[in-house]
Amino acid sequence: DRSIKIAPSILSADFANFGAECEAIEAQGADWVHVDVMDGHFVPNITFGPATCAAIRPHIKGVMDVHLMIAPVDPYIEAFAKAGADVITAHVEAGPHIHRTLQAIRGAGAKAGVALNPGTPASSIEHLLDMVDLVCVMTVNPGFGGQKFIHSQVDKVRQLRTMIGDRAIHIEIDGGVDPTTAPLVAAAGADVLVAGSAVFRGGSVSDPAPYGENIRAI
Ligand code: DX5
Ligand code: ZN
Repeated sequence: DRSIKIAPSILSADFANFGAECEAIEAQGADWVHVDVMDGHFVPNITFGPATCAAIRPHIKGVMDVHLMIAPVDPYIEAFAKAGADVITAHVEAGPHIHRTLQAIRGAGAKAGVALNPGTPASSIEHLLDMVDLVCVMTVNPGFGGQKFIHSQVDKVRQLRTMIGDRAIHIEIDGGVDPTTAPLVAAAGADVLVAGSAVFRGGSVSDPAPYGENIRAI
């Protein structure tokens, strides 16, 4: 079934309160928790690594969706799997051997995701479809929350939906998802919507009700 799942990105959460933030967004209706790992090399920002993922894992009941914006990726896959990631997504642009990386992710016992930057065509993953569980379409340039949705990516989502056919592969949208852009990508065939700023705005762990309102508005 293609019911839409909302995956709040904790990039927009209070970094001093990740455990409580994860519990709050799940209580407010989040389907997955999206965890953005950045290395200051593949993207121009740094967040956190596997130790933080392991620390927040007990505070998440559902799917921990780990988006790796790091290069190289392969040396760290085992560590993120051990930290309890359910889905590990690597970028097709992060190195010359995405096929090997995806094999390693499944080999480590996680679901395998592949992410595409805005400039990378849908065709770049045409020969990988039997080894992925999720395709993440970046609708902003990765690195920061709160950026503007790049509309040219909607057509890519449509192309991917056709390529994927009836395979059990999620199409995830990451960047600039809000109540205006969500319907566009859902209509194009996406089924997992990551949202950072649009979920966390106006709320906090001590006043989490806005998280729920924001999730339902998407
Ligand atoms: C961007 C991250 C996104 C980001 C989305 O590099 O991968 O997950 O946090 O944030 P918003 O929803 O604010 O665009
Ligand atoms: Zn992300």
